[in-house]
Amino acid sequence: MVFRTLYVRPPSSLRTRVSRLPTVEVTVYPYECDAYGHLNEAAYLQVFERARWEALARGPGQDLFRRHQVWPAVRRATVDYQLPAFPGDVLQVETETQKVGRTSLELQQRARRTRDGALIAELQIVFVMIDGEGKSTPIPPEIATVFGSRPSVRPGELVRHEVGGVTLAVDTRGDGPALLLVHGFPLDHSLWAHQVATLSGWRRIAPDLRGAGVSDAPETGYSMTAYADDLVRLLDRMHVERAVVAGLSMGGYIAFEMMRRHPARIIGLILVDTRADADSAEGRKGRDSLIEVARTDGAASVADRMVPRLLGRSSQQTQPHVVQQVRAMVERTPVAGLVGALGAMRDRPDSTALLPTIDVPTLVVVGAEDEVTPPAAARAMAAAIPSAAMTTIPGAGHLAPLEAPTAVTRVIAEFLEAVPRP
Ligand code: MLT
Repeated sequence: MVFRTLYVRPPSSLRTRVSRLPTVEVTVYPYECDAYGHLNEAAYLQVFERARWEALARGPGQDLFRRHQVWPAVRRATVDYQLPAFPGDVLQVETETQKVGRTSLELQQRARRTRDGALIAELQIVFVMIDGEGKSTPIPPEIATVFGSRPSVRPGELVRHEVGGVTLAVDTRGDGPALLLVHGFPLDHSLWAHQVATLSGWRRIAPDLRGAGVSDAPETGYSMTAYADDLVRLLDRMHVERAVVAGLSMGGYIAFEMMRRHPARIIGLILVDTRADADSAEGRKGRDSLIEVARTDGAASVADRMVPRLLGRSSQQTQPHVVQQVRAMVERTPVAGLVGALGAMRDRPDSTALLPTIDVPTLVVVGAEDEVTPPAAARAMAAAIPSAAMTTIPGAGHLAPLEAPTAVTRVIAEFLEAVPRP
C-alpha cells in the first residue's frame, strides 16, 4: 500500500466496528530487524502491512482493490510501540475497523506475541481511496462491506457487484435478514420497486440479472444455472449467508435452480406468477421465433408481442402508467439478454419433481388474470409443495407485484413474519 505521510497521533477513540479481515500470524524475519536486533517503529509498519495483505489473501482476495480499480493510499499512520520483537517471533495480528467514511477508511491493528500473548505494538492507520489518477474516490460498496460497513447508498441508487465474469446492478435497501427479489423476463429489478421500498425489517436485494436492466449483457453464457450461480455469488459478495428468495416467473425458474444447487442458502421461497413444469414442444418453438424477432427487429418488437400478455386485462384498461412502465422496461433490455433468457427458459429443466422436496416455508402468489402462468398452474404447484400457502391477487395479471403492489407487498409481509429468522 502507498505511504503518503506518516506522523504520530493518539489512538482514536472512535467506536470500533468489526472488520471481516481474518486475524493472521506473521513471523519476524532477521532482515526486518535493526542494528539492535529487534523491530523498530518503522519496521512495525512493514509487519502490519504484511499482515494486511495476508489477511486480504485469506479473506476477500488480494485483488480486492484492483478489481474495483481503486487503491488505498495511507494518509496517516501511528505505531504505538510496546515491546521489542526479535527474529523468529510469531506475531498474531488482528485488524479492526474504526471508521468507514465516504472516501476514507480507518483501521486499528494489534500485534501480540503468540508465545505469551504480550501486546507488542498497535497501529492506527487512515487510508484514503484513490482512483487511477490519484484522486480520492468513494469507497466501493464491496470494500466498505469487507471492512464492516454498509455502503451509504441513496434510495434507488444501484450498486454494482462483480460476480465472476459479469457485473450485476443491484437495488439494496434496509437492514435485517436478506430477501432476494428475482425479476422475470424481459424485465429488471424495478418490477419489485414497491416491495423494495416498503418491506422494512428485511434487507431487500433486487438485482438486474445478467443481460437485464443495466447489468452486463454478455453475448453468451445464459442458462438457469448461470443465473442461479450469479445470484449465489452476489449473496457471497454481500456477505449474506442465507436469504428468503422471491422469484417472479423466470425468477421462479431461477429460484428452483437455486434450490437444487444451493439449498442451504435458502430459508424461504416466494413463488410469484410462475410455474414448475418445463416448456412444451410448442412453447420451445415459440421461444425460437421470439429469439428471431429480438435479433431481427429488436427489443421494441419483443415489447409489442409481450406487453399485452404480461399485464392483466384490468391493468391494461385502468393503469396506463403501468403499461408504459413495463413497455419501457422491455425496450431497455439488451438484445443479447433477451436472446440469452429465451434460450435459457426454452432449455430449463422440469422442476415438478423438486416440489415435494421443498422443506422451507413457501408462499405461492398469482394474479387472478395471469395468462402466462395461470392460477390453475399455481394451484397445482402449491398443492405439490408440503405446507405451501397460496394467495390469488384479484385484478392482476402476470406482473402482480407491479399491477397490485400494495396487495402483493401485504401478503409477502405477512408471510415473512412467519419465516424463522436465521
Ligand atoms: C417471465 O415473466 O419471466 C416469462 O414470461 C416467463 C416465461 O415466458 O416462461
